[in-house]
Amino acid sequence: MACKKGKNEPDNEPKSRKSDLKSHQSFPDNSRKTPRKKAGRKSGSFSKVCYGCAPKKAESVKTAEIADGTIDPAQWGKVYPVEYDLWKKTGEPTPAGKSRYKRGYDVGEERPDKLDEYPFLALLYNGWAFGSEYKEPRGHLHMIQDQLDVDPGRYKAGGSCLTCKTPYAPLLQKEMGKNYFSMEYKEVLSKIPKEHQTLGVACIDCHNNKDMSLRISRGFTLGKALDKLGVDQSKLTHQDKRTLVCAQCHVTYNIPKDAEMKSTDVVFPWDGSKWGNITIENIIKKVRSNPENGEWTQSVTGFKLGFVRHPEFELFSNNSVHWQAGVACSDCHMPYTKVGSRKVSDHRIMSPLKNDLKACQQCHTESPEWLRSQIFAIQDRSMSQFIRSGYSTATVAKLFEMANKAQAAGKQIDKELYAQAKNHYEEAFYRVAFIGAENSTGFHNPSEAMRILSDAGNHAGKAEALLRQALTKVGVTVPIKIDLELTKYTNNRGTKKLMFKPKHEIKDPYAEK
Ligand code: HEC
Ligand code: HEC
Ligand code: HEC
Ligand code: HEC
Repeated sequence: MACKKGKNEPDNEPKSRKSDLKSHQSFPDNSRKTPRKKAGRKSGSFSKVCYGCAPKKAESVKTAEIADGTIDPAQWGKVYPVEYDLWKKTGEPTPAGKSRYKRGYDVGEERPDKLDEYPFLALLYNGWAFGSEYKEPRGHLHMIQDQLDVDPGRYKAGGSCLTCKTPYAPLLQKEMGKNYFSMEYKEVLSKIPKEHQTLGVACIDCHNNKDMSLRISRGFTLGKALDKLGVDQSKLTHQDKRTLVCAQCHVTYNIPKDAEMKSTDVVFPWDGSKWGNITIENIIKKVRSNPENGEWTQSVTGFKLGFVRHPEFELFSNNSVHWQAGVACSDCHMPYTKVGSRKVSDHRIMSPLKNDLKACQQCHTESPEWLRSQIFAIQDRSMSQFIRSGYSTATVAKLFEMANKAQAAGKQIDKELYAQAKNHYEEAFYRVAFIGAENSTGFHNPSEAMRILSDAGNHAGKAEALLRQALTKVGVTVPIKIDLELTKYTNNRGTKKLMFKPKHEIKDPYAEK
């Protein structure tokens, strides 16, 4: 297979992307292979990858100093105007008609809510604000404004909620200590200078002002979580950091509560996991092991549950093909791009589909059409499985509702069957929540996403069988098809009384016609 030059690629590039991909070598306990030089398969085979001709690193041209502690991106922008302009573009609507599942803020489109896209989530999350409004994400520039616009229940946890939103979070946490987590959201927000109260992720979140090297600014969350994995942060490679700057926020977390339901911390449930192998099993174990993680009560079942948020880093880094090959988040979401005569990292972070897969072409020689069809095929399969296991889990929730009602009416539901069913149900619930919150709809790690979802389906199936048995035993007739009463959950949601938008619903792509 012949190597293909990247688009706009000058011929005199001395250094290649290959050198960037020598990642994670600092971890002797991990069995990752060094990246392949090119496709391991014969030409014409499934995947053609070429490192030798991938673009060289972008060069930065520095014109002035950035004073220590400067948060204002405009100040950084005076020194790095090209990156600053691209960063600002994360505020613009994204090109429409390119992505199949992520239309968060496409030109001319209304921003979809996950609860309309996947109505079973409205049933499962009913009982707290995630069941009221749960919009698809959009560009970085909007993050705080979006938080202010969403159903206010979503930031009930207090200052904790600012951790992945404002570049002031590390400072505030340092100054306020525990109060930072528990104090009311708006009160903590008011401590940020007025002009920056809606400023989202900024240069300082990812960069060192002295030399623009990448830095982890959230030692109090990601730093502690890396310790749990046994990672020596002084040995992180440059390529590791091209992923970890994103993993400061694109991860799941728990907000433990004290007896008064006040937030005490923001922690990543990575206990027992390893670098490159943070598993759903360990995450669930951690979330379920500590009653403090019971953040809300599910109304259909009455169970106190935890939650899973946007686990992009966890899914991607768990042995995916791209992670194994040493690929970083930034490779796909911040491809090199030419602006005038300069080659820079595209700071307009968005879906690679909306950029016509330029990112992929840094390494892959296939056509954008082929790459797009691969993404869609992976996503269709994952979403089919997600929708099926989601409905199975929602069905179990309704059976619990029946069992609880029977119990309240004086019937003696078998405790053992109930407990076993509850166990399987929670295992299914967290798996569905995990994939529902992971924003690549399966692409970041297709085989792992399918494994998680098939386990979710199995657990839901077992829970259903156990509950049917328990209900039958006390003489309750359970219909074959359980009415989910979906409109009860999809309509009149939250303080805004949001109504179901059928046009946003995503149907099972493999449903029998
Ligand atoms: C300070 C926290 C933070 C950091 C650091 C961060 N993100 Fe985000 N990211 C968010 C939040 C919050 C959103 C959702 C914003 C919204 O919907 O208003 C988001 C949204 C996105 C989106 C969706 C954009 C769209 O057009 O829909 C992508 C893609 C993304 N981030 C990728 C990345 C990558 C890649 C990195 C690392 C280079 C990164 N993020 C670093 C918090 C962060
Ligand atoms: C091999 C390429 C690749 C890598 C590496 C990668 N992503 Fe993605 N990412 C994608 C693709 C493809 C999608 C699906 C986009 C779509 O459907 O429009 C996606 C989707 C996303 C989204 C949702 C985008 C949206 O428009 O809502 C976020 C957020 C995201 N990725 C963050 C990350 C983070 C964080 C990492 C690293 C932990 C990462 N990605 C690693 C290719 C990649
Ligand atoms: C979400 C994380 C993130 C944010 C926010 C961010 N950058 Fe970057 N930036 C990166 C990454 C990743 C690279 C690639 C670094 C590398 O591989 O050496 C980069 C590279 C750069 C470079 C080196 C040249 C280039 O383009 O690759 C400059 C200069 C730069 N960024 C400036 C800025 C400025 C100015 C801001 C704020 C307006 C900013 N960055 C915000 C992650 C970020
Ligand atoms: C930094 C380099 C790099 C980037 C960027 C990259 N890939 Fe890959 N990709 C690889 C490598 C290496 C492999 C493994 C190839 C092999 O083993 O044959 C791979 C494998 C794949 C595979 C096969 C997966 C499998 O399970 O075998 C697909 C599909 C794929 N990439 C799609 C994409 C898409 C779509 C994008 C952009 C969103 C992308 N890649 C971005 C390097 C990259």
